[in-house]
Amino acid sequence: MSSKSSANVSGSKRIAVIPGDGIGTEVTREAVKVLKAVTSGSRTKLDFTEFDWGAERYLRDGTTLPPDAAPMLRRDFDAVLFGAVGDPRVPSNIHAADILLGLRAKLDLYVNLRPVELIDAALTPLRDRGTSDINFVVLRENTEGLYVGMGGQFQRGTPHEVAVQEDINTRKGVERIIRYAFEYAREHQLGRVCMSDKSNALTYGHELWLRVFSQVKDEYPGIESRHLYIDTLVMEVVRDPGQFRVIVTCNLFGDILSDLGAQLAGGLGLAPSGNIHPGRVSLFEPVHGSAPTIAGKNLANPCGAVLASAMMLDHLDLRPQAEALRKAIRAAVHEKHTTVDLGGTLGTREAGDWLAEYVTKNPR
Ligand code: NAD
Ligand code: IPM
Ligand code: MN
Repeated sequence: MSSKSSANVSGSKRIAVIPGDGIGTEVTREAVKVLKAVTSGSRTKLDFTEFDWGAERYLRDGTTLPPDAAPMLRRDFDAVLFGAVGDPRVPSNIHAADILLGLRAKLDLYVNLRPVELIDAALTPLRDRGTSDINFVVLRENTEGLYVGMGGQFQRGTPHEVAVQEDINTRKGVERIIRYAFEYAREHQLGRVCMSDKSNALTYGHELWLRVFSQVKDEYPGIESRHLYIDTLVMEVVRDPGQFRVIVTCNLFGDILSDLGAQLAGGLGLAPSGNIHPGRVSLFEPVHGSAPTIAGKNLANPCGAVLASAMMLDHLDLRPQAEALRKAIRAAVHEKHTTVDLGGTLGTREAGDWLAEYVTKNPR
């Protein structure tokens, strides 16, 4: 029997915690605190093991992602809770690419699920928009595109230098994320899927997206489907976000679109994400980065990390506990028990304490 299934049998879920760099460590500490509070009375316990992968470790001994990391996580853990990586002392960000992009690729986490949900109308920069207008998910392809790291540089540093970065789109990779989008829309009764690409200019790679989309959509006649070029899509998301429920797109466009969406819903401090392979060990993290300029100052908003933890609990089938976390975040936002970016006066630790106390008093 694998250690993973024995963990399940004993009623505990094993969580690998990778706090990473900068505010990643601060928000992850709060997320773990809140997770412990919300599961303290549950039959299923969470068993946390921390890994020190990040800039500090890289600068100390050159380790980025240890070679056995992915098989070890798959074998010994039920989920991964991730903070953020990125440190100005590592200008190339090589450790961040190895660790985060490495885990997405090696664990084959092909879905990057990034919900955009406005929970308080006061938080959006859009005029006259309320909570019902901003409620969609971005499904970002998470293993291919311009992120695979294929390419090279020729005659670097000379006037003749050439830099090539390949955009990889496979039939399998494109089809599985598009299919996931329709399945997601069906399961959550969202009714419509919009696929966005740049097939008018990227006539090979993104023509594949367009062709696969037009085939897969025919299998889901009950779901309205639509295609928009990415430049039009971003304009429409700002003009009238209420028209979108599920947006599926490639790796790079999904990265950009998810920060835009985060801002429409109150900023990066509130935005969660799940790097998912259905049925397999998956990784949950806030959308934001390591924010070096506010790191170490107890200023970072832990809500994105806590909402990512709620997504992790959903993935682990601990749905009441996931809902309890979301309820706590809604209460914190409405009552302004938040960090300064959301108009409150609390520090990172104090915001985490408030959420932990709330879920202790309101476990369901
Ligand atoms: P960032 O997300 O770290 O910060 C962008 C802005 O948002 C900054 O003004 C920051 O102060 C603010 N911000 C972010 N999270 C916040 C929070 N929780 N509470 C309050 N304010 C918050 O993006 P960046 O500045 O472009 O990148 C910094 C580093 O993080 C870079 O090295 C980058 O590569 C890395 N990064 C990592 C991830 C990840 O690990 N998933 C994601 C994005 C960026
Ligand atoms: C994110 C980040 C990463 C990405 C960076 C750190 C490589 O911006 O998770 O959105 O582009 O995927
Ligand atoms: Mn990003």
